[in-house]
Amino acid sequence: MTDTWIRAAASSDLEPDAVIGVQVGGQDLALYRHEGTVYATHNVCTHAYALLSDGYFEDGEIECPIHAARFSIKTGRALCAPASIAVKTYAVQEKDGDILVKLA
Ligand code: FES
Repeated sequence: MTDTWIRAAASSDLEPDAVIGVQVGGQDLALYRHEGTVYATHNVCTHAYALLSDGYFEDGEIECPIHAARFSIKTGRALCAPASIAVKTYAVQEKDGDILVKLA
């Protein structure tokens, strides 16, 4: 874990209203662009193993591709069953054409 900003992707890698999966510091993260702002969560569903970046992203919520649990990309909160545990979120900033995250 680190408290420094780490480059996760180029800003141009993330289209509006899109989600992508990236590996940063050995961790799987999902990056989302929603209403002009970038958000980051851990990419693995808290219910079982699935990559959230393979799911359906709409209106600030990501739906798991396996059992359809939904999570808020802003808070990580699990919004419906079968997931009940929040997914971890990370601080994000865009700077000089890059998306930077803090893993701590
Ligand atoms: S693996 Fe995501 S809801 Fe089951």
